[in-house]
Amino acid sequence: MKERILTKITHSQLQTEAFAEEIGTTLKGGECIELIADLGGGKTTFTRGLVRGTKSDDHVSSPTFTISKIYEAPQFLIHHFDFYRLNTPGLIAHELSEVAHDPKAVSIIEWGDVVKNSLPKKRVTITITTLDEDSRELTIQLPEEYSYILEGIDV
Ligand SMILES: Nc1ncnc2c1ncn2[C@@H]1O[C@H](COP(=O)(O)OP(=O)(O)O)[C@@H](O)[C@H]1O
Ligand SMILES: [Mg+2]
Repeated sequence: MKERILTKITHSQLQTEAFAEEIGTTLKGGECIELIADLGGGKTTFTRGLVRGTKSDDHVSSPTFTISKIYEAPQFLIHHFDFYRLNTPGLIAHELSEVAHDPKAVSIIEWGDVVKNSLPKKRVTITITTLDEDSRELTIQLPEEYSYILEGIDV
């Protein structure tokens, strides 16, 4: 599968949200997005901007205790997973697999390592590296079929 890669450095939470918001506006439904970063790296912050970009008014917070949350956008539902507290994939992995392969739903996954086998091969991977307290390097990796996500993105 051919891949595309884009890197962006942000210097504040607001810049990360604004960048994610731009990406959110390009979503059509059916995309699976995996977010990789350490604790406090900015995965939930990125999700907040992304969800805003889809024109959803729903409040984004870490689904740490519920593992998954659903936000409503005008064109599709967004399923936000956080597997930080999950040690072994169980029923939730099955739910994730269904949602992540649903051609209408958008899925966003934090701490997806434990459910790696349930993630579609065709997915967007966003890796966030902490450079210093307020700076982050965001690397977006996606298959050719998702290249519309990067069109018109300002880097
Ligand atoms: N450039 C930046 N981008 C994103 N978050 C940042 C940035 N600079 C500082 N922060 C802070 O880092 C923290 C990120 O937290 P959060 O999004 O919950 O991370 P995660 O979900 O990866 O654990 C927030 O407190 C946010 O204010
Ligand atoms: Mg988080």
